[in-house]
Amino acid sequence: MNTLMSDIKITRTKTTKIHDVDFDNLNFGRTFSDHMLVCDYKDGKWQSPEIVPYQPIVLDPSAKIFHYGQSVFEGMKAYKDANDSVWLFRPLENFKRLNISSKRLAIPELPEDIFMEGLKALLKVDSNWIPKKEGSSLYIRPFIFASGNGFHASPADQYKFVIALAPSGAYFSGKVKVLIEETYSRSANGGVGFAKAGGNYAGQFYPTQLAVEKGYQQVIWTDDTNHEYIEEAGAMNIFIRINDTLITGPTSDRILDGITRKSIIDIAKREGIPVEVRKITVSEVVNAAKDGSLKEMFGAGTAAVVSPISGFGYKGIDYDLPELKDTYATFIKKYITDIQTNKSDDPFGWRVKM
Ligand code: COI
Repeated sequence: MNTLMSDIKITRTKTTKIHDVDFDNLNFGRTFSDHMLVCDYKDGKWQSPEIVPYQPIVLDPSAKIFHYGQSVFEGMKAYKDANDSVWLFRPLENFKRLNISSKRLAIPELPEDIFMEGLKALLKVDSNWIPKKEGSSLYIRPFIFASGNGFHASPADQYKFVIALAPSGAYFSGKVKVLIEETYSRSANGGVGFAKAGGNYAGQFYPTQLAVEKGYQQVIWTDDTNHEYIEEAGAMNIFIRINDTLITGPTSDRILDGITRKSIIDIAKREGIPVEVRKITVSEVVNAAKDGSLKEMFGAGTAAVVSPISGFGYKGIDYDLPELKDTYATFIKKYITDIQTNKSDDPFGWRVKM
């Protein structure tokens, strides 16, 4: 298939919702733009994408998404600069990862032009929905799910690819306090932890609820074998600063190959921040907290970009992180968002104009 933007059928809404939206007070992912992109997979191939008014999707009760959770998604953001130019951040990486996730969930690969040209066309139709306020952006949620029917536990014969847009403010409002997990796991060797599969996130909700009941906001995921290694932070990758060195775990079956994560590693290398990609044990972090060498911990992901952690709980003891004046988290967050919003040079060539 070779989709051109001019080939994409567009049905515009007759009643825009934009005037009901308070762009100065946006939550994260609660307000949706006027249109969405939809593309069906049937008869063994992806069909032509269409842009339609944002609306509910009608499915048969036996659709396999409901029973077997065959679904994958991505998270991206569009920004508008002072000249009203629209920018994406490393969109090809999201496209590639969507297909990596799909492969693991036995979902047919999506052609690049449907993803890229479809996204471009949708952003053009809903360009007024891209917030300009600092700290806000248009969160983009591409996803694929099994729309095909049947209770047989096997891959569906039909799928839907959808892109929905949500003008959004910050994901977290401040620093978060986290609990290092000793019982539950988000992923296992040979599992789907590296994929952005919907079920990966559903499996986190219950352990996170338990952590919230204990007074924490998020869980720090540890390996499934002995809960010995630090792996991820909530729905994000994690970075730990000990003295001046920034450390993050290597990607694996269990850890998502986060685009923000790898961008931070590249920024650190370029800016002379010592950075190590290696396994890090819980005991190394606890000991560093005790001897004062633990300086910072932060989550990294598209939604929050960089999310500083104020302290952590482990085996019934709480450890506070120091209140530093100049943090890597602040420096890196500004560095990335300045690139994303076209406020600085882009030495890596990550920014893409729509
Ligand atoms: C993202 O950072 O985009 C994520 O995937 C987190 C999401 C679950 C909100």
